[in-house]
Amino acid sequence: MKKIQNTYTVISNAPINTVYHRLVLDAAQLAKAVKPGQFVQVKVSDGLEPLFRRPFSIFRARDGQVEILYEPVGIGTRILTAKRKGDRLDVLGPLGRPFTMPGRRVRHIVFIGGGVGVAPFMLFSDVLKEHKAEKLLLYGGRTAAHTFSLREFNRNGVKSMIATDDGSHGVKGRVSELFGQVPLGPDTMIYACGPKPMMAAVQQFAKQNGLTGEASMEEVMACGLGACLGCSIPTVNGYRTVCHDGPVFSLEELVFRA
Ligand SMILES: Cc1cc2nc3c(=O)[nH]c(=O)nc-3n(C[C@H](O)[C@H](O)[C@H](O)COP(=O)(O)OP(=O)(O)OC[C@H]3O[C@@H](n4cnc5c(N)ncnc54)[C@H](O)[C@@H]3O)c2cc1C
Ligand code: FES
Repeated sequence: MKKIQNTYTVISNAPINTVYHRLVLDAAQLAKAVKPGQFVQVKVSDGLEPLFRRPFSIFRARDGQVEILYEPVGIGTRILTAKRKGDRLDVLGPLGRPFTMPGRRVRHIVFIGGGVGVAPFMLFSDVLKEHKAEKLLLYGGRTAAHTFSLREFNRNGVKSMIATDDGSHGVKGRVSELFGQVPLGPDTMIYACGPKPMMAAVQQFAKQNGLTGEASMEEVMACGLGACLGCSIPTVNGYRTVCHDGPVFSLEELVFRA
């Protein structure tokens, strides 16, 4: 897999609601190379704070531009919010193992996203636009503010359902409240990305119903290249790095500890 380190110009960087921001980069080389589920490591500051790059999924890659959907949660992401049109950003990527493309036998593709974990599914739905399978997005957020318009998914032929913890948008409860919508059978493929408890619930649901799927995992990262082992997670095959062996793993190989 070809890795690219480059500096790209910021085209825009703005909040899309009270929680999420959307960063657009002029990055033709990266847009061409990236596959759904891969991520980039962004150097948000020239100084020592924060020292390490920050990982982000690719939300969109089209017309020579790459987009990132992000939620400011700490020092690095807050620095990122201050980037303006014309600023330059040092970006390493595309990194990691992408989602497996569904084969022709797959007739139902189900994306399950929690919070900002929905990000890689936008690019995935762009790429799968012509795939004949029915596509469904089950999207969970803490409140209505932690969700955003799914029109762009719908334009890609993806049906969507939302659940919020407080019921302020869609069904009240966790995204698992929507699992009853998943078509059961060997021609269904699940792709999940979100917080660990959600991923554990998806894994359990898939196992109980004999479904196949993949999950994109998140872990705090340093090198992002498989060298420091800082992002290792347990799997049935021993410890694996999220940055190099993942972030995408099959649901069956993941081990979630209480
Ligand atoms: C493969 C991958 C893809 C990601 N894609 C996106 C994305 O598309 N959009 C987005 O908003 N975020 C994404 N993240 C999470 C993002 O990298 C973290 O939110 C970010 O690194 C936090 O940096 P910070 O300096 O703002 O926070 P810090 O000040 O470093 O930490 C703030 C809080 O966030 C927690 N945190 C930090 N890094 C992570 C992490 N990787 N996973 C979970 N919690 C973390 C810390 O434990 C702490 O509680 C992704 C992470 C990975 C590994
Ligand atoms: S961050 Fe260093 S091995 Fe993954």
